[in-house]
Amino acid sequence: MIGVDTNEIIGLEKKYEMNLYPKRGIALARGEGEFVWDTEGKKYIDCTTGVGVAILGHAHPSVIAAIERQSKALMTCYQPFCHEERARLEQRLVSLFGVNGKVMLSNSGTEAVEAALKLARRHTKRKGFVSAMNAFHGRSSGSLALTFKEKYRSPFEPLIGPIARVRFNDAESLKGAVNSDTAAVFLEPVQGEGGIRPASQEYLKAARDICTDRGALLIMDEVQSGCGRTGKFFAFEHFGVQPDIACLAKGLGGGMPIGATIARDEVATFGPMEHGSTFGGNPLACAAANAVLGTIEKDRLLEKVASDGEYLSHRLKAALSSKSEFREVRGMGLMVAIELKVPSKEPLASLVQNGVLALPAGEQVIRLLPPFIISRASLDTVVQAIAGVVK
Ligand SMILES: Cc1ncc(COP(=O)(O)O)c(C=O)c1O
Repeated sequence: MIGVDTNEIIGLEKKYEMNLYPKRGIALARGEGEFVWDTEGKKYIDCTTGVGVAILGHAHPSVIAAIERQSKALMTCYQPFCHEERARLEQRLVSLFGVNGKVMLSNSGTEAVEAALKLARRHTKRKGFVSAMNAFHGRSSGSLALTFKEKYRSPFEPLIGPIARVRFNDAESLKGAVNSDTAAVFLEPVQGEGGIRPASQEYLKAARDICTDRGALLIMDEVQSGCGRTGKFFAFEHFGVQPDIACLAKGLGGGMPIGATIARDEVATFGPMEHGSTFGGNPLACAAANAVLGTIEKDRLLEKVASDGEYLSHRLKAALSSKSEFREVRGMGLMVAIELKVPSKEPLASLVQNGVLALPAGEQVIRLLPPFIISRASLDTVVQAIAGVVK
């Protein structure tokens, strides 16, 4: 961008922003489709999408039109007053959830999980929770308690509990942990931050049975895996397992901050003002989310994600299988991990140089969360770039 001093921007963030995010040394200026441009005019294929947020790519016309229209009409609407965009979004989310239910709208993934935590205690009148090793559920005090990495939790303890941590994909471990004080079991059907690890069908089915038998709720955290990322709207649909509560955020607003907690009717037992959020369900975010859901349906993007996911994984395997640093490709749909035998930090930095933005997910993983609208040509370019940086 002419007139923008990249070093100044980087310097200002370094000076004035809390030191939370390791910076990558570029400043982004704009995006269109699967591409973003930095302030120097360099173009990248964006396989980060703001960690799975821009699922329709950047500057999608349907999202722009919805935001433009709604920002001129009404941006905020205190929840006691009803609003068409909110009403239609809630109806849509319940219909996608698969059983009769109710929705609490918020602004982020961690808030969607917090609402689920409170609702589980409220409904079951129990205190304990179970979460999985390598799980990531957020960083506010409640969701942080569920998150696995001790490094994230220990400076902030005591957090809520008791929390039992079980081995992921191990039904026996779960059986031993769920008891008469367990309010809920939280699971990601595909662990995201933990390295893109899909659950097995037997495991999720066993989790459903164990929870039902013991009166605990089964809560699926679909903040990263949901909204079509795996080729179904909810990843749990792949497994034929219905949770009691599901959490969504990230891609739902196509870039607008929004979170959603959807619970089946019998569980949605919050009373008036027992939970709430000033911005939750604001018309602007709801309009964007309705545009996203409408576009996914109209453009049959779930089918595209499923077939592009297969294509990408297949191409990656073919391009990388002879490389000595390569371990495996895994994932579902367009939620893909390339696990290396070496740290992924350097290859990720080299990818930036080569015009591809990708994410880590643990020490040795290159994670790809491209937008659903990405072209096959761009996927080929990404594969080529990765093959060029993995030895
Ligand atoms: C599965 C899962 N749950 C919760 C969160 C927290 O979402 P947010 O960063 O919007 O609070 C994330 C974020 O990466 C996530 O992947």
